[in-house]
Amino acid sequence: MDRIEFAKEHFGKLIEEQLKRIEKMNEEKEFIDYNSLGKITIGVVGGDGIGPYITEQAHRVLEFLLDNEVQTGKIEFKVIDGLTIENRAAQNTAIPSDVLEEIKKCPIILKGPTTTPRAGDPWPNIESANVAMRKELDLFANVRPVKVPESGIDWMFYRENTEGAYALGSKGIHVNDDLAVDFTVATYEGSHRIIKAAFDYARKSGKNKVTVITKANVIKTTDGKFLAIAREVAKEYPEVQWDDWYIDIMTAKLIDEKRRTDFKVMVLPNLYGDILTDEAAEFQGGVGTAGSANIGKRYAMFEAIHGSAPRMVSEGRGEYADPSSIMRAAVMLLEHLGKIDKAEALSKALDVCGLYEKKLNITGRTDGASSKEYADYIMETVKDPGLNDKWSSYIK
Ligand code: IPM
Ligand code: MG
Repeated sequence: MDRIEFAKEHFGKLIEEQLKRIEKMNEEKEFIDYNSLGKITIGVVGGDGIGPYITEQAHRVLEFLLDNEVQTGKIEFKVIDGLTIENRAAQNTAIPSDVLEEIKKCPIILKGPTTTPRAGDPWPNIESANVAMRKELDLFANVRPVKVPESGIDWMFYRENTEGAYALGSKGIHVNDDLAVDFTVATYEGSHRIIKAAFDYARKSGKNKVTVITKANVIKTTDGKFLAIAREVAKEYPEVQWDDWYIDIMTAKLIDEKRRTDFKVMVLPNLYGDILTDEAAEFQGGVGTAGSANIGKRYAMFEAIHGSAPRMVSEGRGEYADPSSIMRAAVMLLEHLGKIDKAEALSKALDVCGLYEKKLNITGRTDGASSKEYADYIMETVKDPGLNDKWSSYIK
């Protein structure tokens, strides 16, 4: 077939798919009510590389904190295997269908990192399991907190998770050897729900300030739409102040000590959110220290924001991987379940163990603590009735 005709047909299919996605978004208006479920199943998905090692430890800590709920049958944990790069490559798919079926039985998921292949890797160049999972479960809000109390940094990022350049990132087209085209997409529904989530959070948390980040001066259609919708949504929140910035200058302003403490809640399209949240996490000690929540109306998934570090595993160091990031994700999972006290205790224990007291050190090598030893240390610290005082004594 003529390549231009082929490209047109391909584009036509993409448009059809997106219109269908909009219909689905419109059907799913309400958030799931956990109280209406007899039992909440938390799926534990290890992923690749160091994923299974650190996820197992976060799972242990969660079982420990939710012991009562598990005993009384309100919560159950279910380990789901098979989201490995070997299995995905063998089946040539981002998420094997039997694994997806299991995952879909769990309204809440704790997930380890998964390897994302790219052209030239030994794996087939399949779509990222992360991106696919966010799309499949419609996890539209990628929520990432970054805090550095001593520098006055207290940021909350709302990254759009199902659209933008990533939604069609594996659906670009090589028209011929010379011409490659990718696509980016913004929908009214998709932009509106993430912007609304950010404003809701700004109101609920009392932060009362939202910064909308785009490149609407250049990417006029999709980013322009995102910004226009933000303007519309902002009108419904008169008590929430808001402003808008372009992603390039925003990236610079995060390192401007005078300016950066002004930012509170930030909402932005997918690609910019990916980049800016890695930069932001660096202020608090790197991506290894940050957790991430992926929230949709029916499902919520909590994950570490770092990669799967396959080299650590091939060098036999998997069990020495740092579980801090996935434990931060576990804090967000507890918050999401409404277990605020437990979330706070775990968060404080992570601060004490990782930032202040540091009785154990994780180095990623045999000279450091293992992931399991570290999880034991966290649990001891959580149990300590003096945890609050200890934590406050460090914070002062
Ligand atoms: C993240 C990761 C993923 C993303 C990758 C692994 C697809 O970088 O969660 O930020 O880009 O979203
Ligand atoms: Mg990223």
